[in-house]
Amino acid sequence: MTSYKELGLVNTREMFKKAVAGGYAIPAFNFNTLEQMQAIVQAAVETKSPVIMQVSKGARNYANGTILRYMAQGAVEYAKELGCKNPQIVLHLDHGDSFELCKDCIDNGFSSVMFDGSALPYEENIRITKQVVEYAHAHDVTVEAELGVLAGVEDEVQAEKSHYTKPEEVIDFATRSGCDSLAISIGTSHGAYKFTPEQCTRDPKTGRLVPPPLAFDILHEIEKKLPGFPIVLHGSSSVPQEEVDTINAHGGKLPDAVDIPEASKSAVCKINIDSDSRLAMTAAIRKHFDEKPGDFDPRQYLKPARENMKKMYIHKIVEVLGSNNKL
Ligand code: G3H
Ligand code: 13P
Ligand code: ZN
Repeated sequence: MTSYKELGLVNTREMFKKAVAGGYAIPAFNFNTLEQMQAIVQAAVETKSPVIMQVSKGARNYANGTILRYMAQGAVEYAKELGCKNPQIVLHLDHGDSFELCKDCIDNGFSSVMFDGSALPYEENIRITKQVVEYAHAHDVTVEAELGVLAGVEDEVQAEKSHYTKPEEVIDFATRSGCDSLAISIGTSHGAYKFTPEQCTRDPKTGRLVPPPLAFDILHEIEKKLPGFPIVLHGSSSVPQEEVDTINAHGGKLPDAVDIPEASKSAVCKINIDSDSRLAMTAAIRKHFDEKPGDFDPRQYLKPARENMKKMYIHKIVEVLGSNNKL
């Protein structure tokens, strides 16, 4: 058993309380690689922002859970080395799909876990979320639950159609499950292909596809039912058109990727971003390979990739979430 407290990490409780009171959101960035971790820490330290570093089941399979845990511990020490006296870093399991996986993460240094029972029948979702909450709270670990289904296809997260969260269910769900925060579905989706061209309209001036609006009315109804309760938004990458254009200009093929308005302009207190980091990394690497075909030392192309991700993380923190200068 390794407690996250030994690693210098924190849970989300105080962080969310301050974010709700202060009207900003905490960035939750997925990471799988060293360069993502370095860029996240550099961005958080330079902007004086708390940060959630999250790991999916796919990330654990790719990079190894033990290595990722030591990377999170390394992130805390790296932040201190960069001059941050009191880093506020959460290591969070993203989209945990069983009690066993959540327990394994809690036993191995995670300070926060998500149990994603959104695809399960309502009562089953409550039952397992509650089981995770009981174990997690006994170890002072916080729990995110999900109600409503997001569309999108990634390694471990797949659903063809999204189903909005029903506001009339949230009080019962939050009370009976005991969760600390709730991920809701208001029309965002996972991945770089958030909408099909048929779901969009075309801007006559630019010719670009404009996505359908998010259901902010549902978010506001939920906020009225659960005042002050931490709400989480998944699928919040904005899929910047410049990165998609760079990828396609340098040999990539991302057809019909649609950029969405910053989904995070709302009162939610945790915003999940993964795809924008993938796009920033891929765009920089493709550009580098195209311009310097003789390079083969990974440091030569991973350095600009890391810089481009850092720029994106800082943009999100400062311009979108407002979590800068909160340490
Ligand atoms: O919401 C899912 C995250 O973007 C993680 O994706 O399962 O491909 O690591 P992944
Ligand atoms: P994006 O695919 O929009 O980055 O969403 C990531 C996410 O929700 C991780 O849980
Ligand atoms: Zn997600």
